[in-house]
Amino acid sequence: PRSIYLSRHGESMHNVEGRIGGDTDLSNRGLQYRDELANYINSQNIPHLRVWTSWLKRTLQTASKIKAPQERWKALNEIDAGVCEELTYAEIKEKYPADFEARDLDKLTYRYPRGESYEDLIARLEPVIMELERQANVLVVAHQAVLRCLLAYFMDKPLEALPYIHVPLHTVIKLTPVAYGCKVEYVDLQV
Ligand code: F6P
Repeated sequence: PRSIYLSRHGESMHNVEGRIGGDTDLSNRGLQYRDELANYINSQNIPHLRVWTSWLKRTLQTASKIKAPQERWKALNEIDAGVCEELTYAEIKEKYPADFEARDLDKLTYRYPRGESYEDLIARLEPVIMELERQANVLVVAHQAVLRCLLAYFMDKPLEALPYIHVPLHTVIKLTPVAYGCKVEYVDLQV
């Protein structure tokens, strides 16, 4: 059976500072994950593996040492936080207190001013999911919010739970379809 492998990018400079969005490079730890991820994936000898990334530097860098054909999808870019891009959550709370509260009350439908909501993201990811359904083995290197949407789809999680699904850094999530569902394995690469 084929598998879908999911991974967040390695730790980015913005992750280190607690800033959301943006397009920063990997940190030193993130670069270490790039190496460990390549070692792990290359050693698995996965037949006909294809690697899908977003257009953001941190996913391209994370996938750069994997020996497999790579494809970039703009649809895999992280949720667009609009006016809140590159702020920390504390800064958002201070500059946009009403928005901070509204998001907390309804994280699924809340749309960042001049940005996106989780619902928008679900719609944007529909073509990616359609194509994933047709493919053999694929590794998707993307972002926290994006991977929450993909996981919710493949694991049949309720929409209310989707924005809170735990997607740890530096961990490969392997999904293998079985009768009526998906087997899920978490491989922590210990970076
Ligand atoms: O902090 C990393 C990040 O990927 C941000 O770029 C993004 O806005 C956020 O996570 C999504 O998580 P949440 O919806 O919990 O804010």
